[in-house]
Amino acid sequence: MRTQVGIVGAGPAGLMLSHMLHLEGIDSVIVERAGQEHVRTRLRAGVLEQGTVEMLRGLGLGGRFGRLGLEQHAIDFRFAGESHRIDFHAASGGRSAWVYPQHELVTDLMDARVAAGACMFFEAPVTRLEGVRDGNAVIHFEHDGAPQRLECDYIAGCDGFRGVCRDAIPADEVKVYDRVYPFGWLGILADAPAPTSEITWGCHEDGFAMLSIRSPSVTRLYLQCAPDEEPEAWSDDRIWSELHKRLDVPDMPPVNEGRISQKGVTAMRSFLAEPMQYGRLFLAGDAAHIVPPTGAKGLNSAMADVQVLGRALVEHYKRGAGTWLASYSAICLKRMWLVQRFSAGLCTMVHQFPGDNAFVRRLQRADLEYMTGTVAGRLQFAENFTGLPIGA
Ligand code: FAD
Ligand code: DHB
Repeated sequence: MRTQVGIVGAGPAGLMLSHMLHLEGIDSVIVERAGQEHVRTRLRAGVLEQGTVEMLRGLGLGGRFGRLGLEQHAIDFRFAGESHRIDFHAASGGRSAWVYPQHELVTDLMDARVAAGACMFFEAPVTRLEGVRDGNAVIHFEHDGAPQRLECDYIAGCDGFRGVCRDAIPADEVKVYDRVYPFGWLGILADAPAPTSEITWGCHEDGFAMLSIRSPSVTRLYLQCAPDEEPEAWSDDRIWSELHKRLDVPDMPPVNEGRISQKGVTAMRSFLAEPMQYGRLFLAGDAAHIVPPTGAKGLNSAMADVQVLGRALVEHYKRGAGTWLASYSAICLKRMWLVQRFSAGLCTMVHQFPGDNAFVRRLQRADLEYMTGTVAGRLQFAENFTGLPIGA
């Protein structure tokens, strides 16, 4: 079997790249370890930045998004018993973010790929890559109990943080930056309408909490917890009492309670592999970088990479221009380090770290006051949250 671009992973990065290439008449094959139903229903990120939304619309994927996406103009930071709103729409000169769950985006992409008759293998774990360095690139995978080979011009490693593609780069050719945080998020999905239409962050001395939205009748809520916490250790009563304590303030409607339909714990880390390309292999999305979810940047960063990689492959195949491909990693990393800075900065500003003394806690408060209470602070938050420019 042979294709122009072999794509490992059918997450948002792999599916979007395949869709972009298809629109330009470039052939690709997706090889995915999980089953199609699992990929379509995985519950993950929820917020799209302006550039991601423009990308969706530009690629003909704006239909369901236009009906289900909830435009956001502000975030309400709660600390010191008060609400401190950042109207990021006003601060950024009219840019927005949208609540649109990742599984809806994956559904849109999957439907578009299926309708176009895309070649995709599910329940097909990739076992190793070959010939990555100097041509004759091959993806080895298993399907229906038999080993398979996919020969390709290029390989897009879109296989997430625990995939196999990053490991195909020799250890002395890649530098890895890593920080693991001493806490995680307990995330729940509740059948309850959000009390206001805005995402709300609770920066409380007993730990961080967040209220986000999934639909007019469903809220997504997070609580800072231990990184190895068992979700079962949190009874529904304990969850609601911590959410009220960390999020409610006088004069604002309290968190609405409802049936909890899902509970899970996500550990938190910052991670980056440099460079993001090696020979014929290009890493995109979580395969190359992880951010703590505080800035809602994981999914958006995957989309930014794919935008650069898709354009580079089109330039190569359509116009014979290789410089785009050659500078893929440098272009993505320049933006990604700024995204890492924003995500890690917010993460350390709003969480309680074990062992922090009163001075550090007071500095966190000063950071929050600067960010929400000054024009410069609000502008910085606004341009990062709604998304930095993509590409050179
Ligand atoms: P993925 O979505 O991870 O897709 C990679 C795909 O590759 C998967 O389908 C996987 O099955 C497949 N794969 C892996 N190994 C192989 C193999 N050997 N062979 C074949 N296929 C393989 N981001 C936010 O911004 N906000 C959030 O609230 C948030 N919550 C998250 C919660 C969880 C539990 C997780 C795991 C992530 C969360 N993220 C969040 C991050 C965001 O979801 C990711 O950044 C996004 O999914 C990245 O997309 P991707 O396509 O790069 O990788
Ligand atoms: C979600 C929203 C955010 O604003 C964020 O920073 C992280 C996650 C969410 O809706 O899941």
